[in-house]
Amino acid sequence: MKPWLLFSLSDLMERDDDAFSLEECLSNFSCIQGGDDVKNYLVKNAIVDEKRWVSKTYLFISDDLQKNILGYFTVSLKYIMVSDGLQLSKNSIKRLNPDSNSIAQCRLIGQLGRSTHAEKGFGTHILRYAIGMMRQFAKKEGCRTLRIDCANNKKLMEYYVKHGFRPISKNKDNDLIQMITMLDRGIDQIMGN
Ligand SMILES: CC(C)(COP(=O)(O)OP(=O)(O)OC[C@H]1O[C@@H](n2cnc3c(N)ncnc32)[C@H](O)[C@@H]1OP(=O)(O)O)[C@@H](O)C(=O)NCCC(=O)NCCS
Repeated sequence: MKPWLLFSLSDLMERDDDAFSLEECLSNFSCIQGGDDVKNYLVKNAIVDEKRWVSKTYLFISDDLQKNILGYFTVSLKYIMVSDGLQLSKNSIKRLNPDSNSIAQCRLIGQLGRSTHAEKGFGTHILRYAIGMMRQFAKKEGCRTLRIDCANNKKLMEYYVKHGFRPISKNKDNDLIQMITMLDRGIDQIMGN
């Protein structure tokens, strides 16, 4: 694995000066095939969302002269509407802690992408890092559900299932699958090891 350093986007925004152009750094990010939305988010929306505290972005940057973005993830808070269509048992729904309006708070990994500069498998490293970070937040603040919205694509869904997520519902357009994992359990427990 290439040596990397982790930066929050907020840190990089403070460093934006003559010696370092954040705009250039972000626009040089080339996500692997299938990641156009992930690239566009970083270039067009990440800074705006960071400034508004809508979401927070973390970037893995190569620790060499090139300083390429190897990948990134974005986290925020969200909710799940607990409706009849949810593919979960009564017990699992209870574990989401829905309120009296059937709203269950959750954490969200909104974006996740590996760059063409990083080797296959680096995305898993990013995902595990993001889950670990969310687990630490959850331990301190509560809210144990972690959600990811996956494109309705078999391969990508299988990838998230392999990493402990399970599908719970689809959006109206049928192009996004809501998947969740529980942060109060280790990855080995989730995967039944
Ligand atoms: C998802 C991602 C971070 C995983 O990175 P990784 O752990 O290094 O693993 P890979 O890139 O090898 O991807 C794992 C598998 O998912 C598949 N996959 C990844 N993104 C996919 C996509 N957008 N559409 C379809 N399949 C996809 C890969 O083809 C691969 O399948 P394989 O093992 O049969 O070759 C990375 O593939 C990526 O950046 N994808 C594009 C952006 C994206 O789709 N992000 C997810 C948003 S929810």
